[in-house]
Amino acid sequence: MITMIKPALIARCAAMLCLSLLLLACGSDPAPTPTTAPAPTTAPLAPNTESLEIGGRVYYETCMTCHGVAGRGDGPGAAALESPPADLAVHVPMHPDADLFGFVSQGIAGTAMPAFGDRLTDDEIWHVVNYIKTFDE
Ligand code: HEC
Repeated sequence: MITMIKPALIARCAAMLCLSLLLLACGSDPAPTPTTAPAPTTAPLAPNTESLEIGGRVYYETCMTCHGVAGRGDGPGAAALESPPADLAVHVPMHPDADLFGFVSQGIAGTAMPAFGDRLTDDEIWHVVNYIKTFDE
């Protein structure tokens, strides 16, 4: 008996899953960007020790090569770029959190600033946003 129910159940679940994936895919179609939800205007993650630790790790692994240890735009890879990386200590305070999230997620068109939206999770981006806000002039 159980062996007869099981395949039917599995088939139903699979069908449901397909349907919800399809709905999800359709739902996100009109969105112009790959992000699923509009970015909030402030970082949704508190800049606590844990957040800054994760953000710092992401920064050193991903951003430091261009932006430099203290965010001054003097990383080892900076010299090879046509236009220099922004000095984050100066520029970060000029932008709301959502813009910073956007720069990191989408990159900055026409510059060497890459898009990290498909390499970092939203949470990782918010952590790194918290981290770059700690740079001081
Ligand atoms: C390949 C080099 C490179 C890497 C790697 C890189 N950036 Fe950039 N970034 C740039 C350049 C170049 C600019 C300046 C773009 C411009 O001219 O407006 C920039 C600009 C920015 C800005 C905008 C500052 C402003 O107000 O104009 C932010 C924020 C930023 N980067 C954060 C990051 C973070 C966070 C990471 C790591 C996740 C990162 N960048 C990785 C090259 C890089």
